[in-house]
Amino acid sequence: MSKPKNYKLFIDGAWVESLSGETFASDNPARPKQILGTFQKGCKEDVEKAVEAAEAAFPKWSETPAPKRGLILSRAAQLLRENKEQLSSEMTMEMGKVIQESRGDVQEAMDITEYMAGEGRRLLGFTTPSELRKKLCLTTRMPIGVCGLITPWNFPMAIPTWKIMTALICGNTVLFKPSSDTPLCATRLVEILEKAGLPKGVLNMVTGSGDDVGMTIVRHEKVGAISFTGHKDTGASILKEAGLKRVGLEMGGKNGIIVMDDADLNLALEGVIWGGYGTTGQRCTAASRVIVHEKIKDKFERMLIDRIGKLKLGDGLKPQTDVGPLVNKAAQEKSAKYVEIGKNEGAKLLIGGEIPAMEGFFFEPTLFTDCTKEMRIAQEEIFGPVVSLISIRNLDEATDAINSVEYGLSSAIYTKDIGRACEAITRIKAGLTYVNSSTIGSEVHLPFGGVKHTGMGTREGGIEGINEFSEIKTVYIDYSGKLQRAQIDIE
Ligand code: UN1
Repeated sequence: MSKPKNYKLFIDGAWVESLSGETFASDNPARPKQILGTFQKGCKEDVEKAVEAAEAAFPKWSETPAPKRGLILSRAAQLLRENKEQLSSEMTMEMGKVIQESRGDVQEAMDITEYMAGEGRRLLGFTTPSELRKKLCLTTRMPIGVCGLITPWNFPMAIPTWKIMTALICGNTVLFKPSSDTPLCATRLVEILEKAGLPKGVLNMVTGSGDDVGMTIVRHEKVGAISFTGHKDTGASILKEAGLKRVGLEMGGKNGIIVMDDADLNLALEGVIWGGYGTTGQRCTAASRVIVHEKIKDKFERMLIDRIGKLKLGDGLKPQTDVGPLVNKAAQEKSAKYVEIGKNEGAKLLIGGEIPAMEGFFFEPTLFTDCTKEMRIAQEEIFGPVVSLISIRNLDEATDAINSVEYGLSSAIYTKDIGRACEAITRIKAGLTYVNSSTIGSEVHLPFGGVKHTGMGTREGGIEGINEFSEIKTVYIDYSGKLQRAQIDIE
């Protein structure tokens, strides 16, 4: 095999080596011997240079009319479209998800890019009447400055795109630190934005470790905002270290699907399979808990076992594959560890639970039943294909169970009763609730984010995403020609 290509950092419009002189490799989790490339192990000095470049590019970029910024995003969307197939197969090779899901990821990147290109002609503020005569009141948006964007590997194009395009259209400049599991996808995205005509310094990418690169960005006094998606513990340290910056965090979930006794069980089955085992359970929105009514529990278990038994593990590039590998060995070991925890807690293993005898970081789709809502397997985010079934007797118990975790990202209920569905929508403490659909698969023009330990109140996507990456300026224009004091000079 030929020597893998050595990829660079992107700083001030140029592809450069890290000052550390060190590199790391990105492999294929379905065939760990296949190295996709080597990447720069960035260091503090690289971050320093990237921040300087982003800061220097800010005045011109922020003053570029937003519709002009949008044109560059439109070109990027076009390039994503033209390269969709190649980007998707590289993604499957780099992080393992099956090819149709990689296509979905690139599609999502395209969708958000197009949406944000259009925002260049909106970026709406509002006007409202003044309490005084001859006075106009309105709001406008200001960019924040240099934004540090730290992204995970599970949506290696979509999540960086949510953050990068939104930050850019608002007039910010960006320092992007992608996950070390997917630096190739990140590099491709940056190459596309470079080709689309982004001026130098507006977007910079430094690959490398969270401790060296990520935390240096988080602590940097010239970085105005941090947006992070990833593990809760990392999010917590970011919040501690960020000082008085704006911080947007999206930190996972322990999402549940409620299946009531009146549900269409075939529909619920598809939803649970997709929610639990889609992307090998490696979504923040994955449904790792199924909260099922006792009346239909046995039947639904049989349906699930039958369906799970038919799921084909394999290389995501093969069309017959249903479930790809986990992203790396640590993820595989984590799923195995939780299976042991589940067994020791007294949950009943219905199917799966093993590392299969095949090359790559695979794990069998696993289903536990007779779980209590307090068990660790029903409380902690596993980020693998391990699902816990909890039985309930009524809607009160169902919503109580679904709310019994520290997270609050996504949720779902299957029922034909509109009243029950509305009760659930009202009671479930989560950023997203699906009715008669699975917990995964959000659309880019709607807000995405969670409550409790999932997030800090920010939402990505659509107009809420714009709020994360812009500051509101309130403007008062007084054309009365005299001093009019609010609250005092009232007639
Ligand atoms: C994530 O897993 O971090 O709704 C986000 C979904 C995806 C987003 C997942 N569009 O499942």
